[in-house]
Amino acid sequence: MSTAEFTIRRAEVRDAAAIAEVYNEAILKSTATFDTEPKTAEDRLEWLRAHDDRHPVFVAEVAGEVVGWACLSKWSDRPAYDGTAETSFYVAERHRSGGIGRALKERLIEEARRAGLHTLVARVAEGSEASLHLNRSLGFARVGTMREVGFKHGKHLDVHILQLMLDSEPVTDSACVGNPIRQVDVLTPAQVEQLHVLYQSEWWTKGRPLDDVRIAVENSSLVIGFVESETGRLVGFCRVLTDFVFRATIFDVIVAEEWRGRGLGRRLIEAVVGHPRLQRVRTLWLCCEPDKMPFYEKWGFGKFPDELLWMERAHGNCEQETPQ
Ligand SMILES: CC(C)(COP(=O)(O)OP(=O)(O)OC[C@H]1O[C@@H](n2cnc3c(N)ncnc32)[C@H](O)[C@@H]1OP(=O)(O)O)[C@@H](O)C(=O)NCCC(=O)NCCS
Repeated sequence: MSTAEFTIRRAEVRDAAAIAEVYNEAILKSTATFDTEPKTAEDRLEWLRAHDDRHPVFVAEVAGEVVGWACLSKWSDRPAYDGTAETSFYVAERHRSGGIGRALKERLIEEARRAGLHTLVARVAEGSEASLHLNRSLGFARVGTMREVGFKHGKHLDVHILQLMLDSEPVTDSACVGNPIRQVDVLTPAQVEQLHVLYQSEWWTKGRPLDDVRIAVENSSLVIGFVESETGRLVGFCRVLTDFVFRATIFDVIVAEEWRGRGLGRRLIEAVVGHPRLQRVRTLWLCCEPDKMPFYEKWGFGKFPDELLWMERAHGNCEQETPQ
């Protein structure tokens, strides 16, 4: 992990060799790009020259050395696609996890807005977890997955397509100025206690003892939490039970009172429907109050087919969790 100071600037022709070096590391060592042969500085020079003001290339520098790059590229040469661009970003392995990737991607989004683009697309190959996480935390939503369209390092690979609409109000970490949040997939003991407190505010989960909450979290197939970046306080949560292939049931979707109306519920559901580990699952189930239906319908959830309904039975000796 690197925490070195870095700067971001527009790429210049003199950066071609360094851009090639960063990219070649990813070509040879990862499946993040489906290029398989290293690029020369001359090739990158030509590539740089093919970019324009609406589709710029940026580099990140640490102590004068180029350690990362990012660009907007035309999505297609066909004119009707003019308002759409694709984003790419790469950071040298030894400089990852220091915030450079996030800063590069934020710069791309900023430039795309400035250039009046309408939407951004990101193609993220299976296994590029950091990229998937960053895209989603900056407001990109997964719109689909292309199955096994790539073959690299002896394996067929899926590609997730993510999209950010630039003229809608994005729900991003940077949009929550002064109080940024980040996604977590494991809760600390303190966060489990905070979840227990959140649960007490809803009739469908009120009265659950802390131990019950801890056990529910431990035994869930997936946990999706959003915490305030500075304090680590849990402010949004849901959990999923699934076999990872056939069906997944979403439970306990909850957002802290003071965070409601700020798009966090939307991020929670996007995190579930876009979750890489759920992409093979054929149906997502959830149970909600009737007035929440329009919210879930945005992601294609619909009423149970007429021949099916949820059923409930009081069970065991302890106070029961009511299905949400
Ligand atoms: C994607 C990439 C550019 C990110 O660069 P970076 O400098 O490491 O990014 P940052 O340090 O800003 O952020 C990394 C984020 O990913 C998260 N992350 C890292 N590894 C992760 C993993 N395995 N699963 C989920 N999230 C992960 C980090 O927690 C951090 O998130 P946070 O800011 O919310 O804490 C870099 O990993 C890379 O070059 N990967 C290979 C190329 C690639 O995948 N490019 C995208 C294809 S276009």
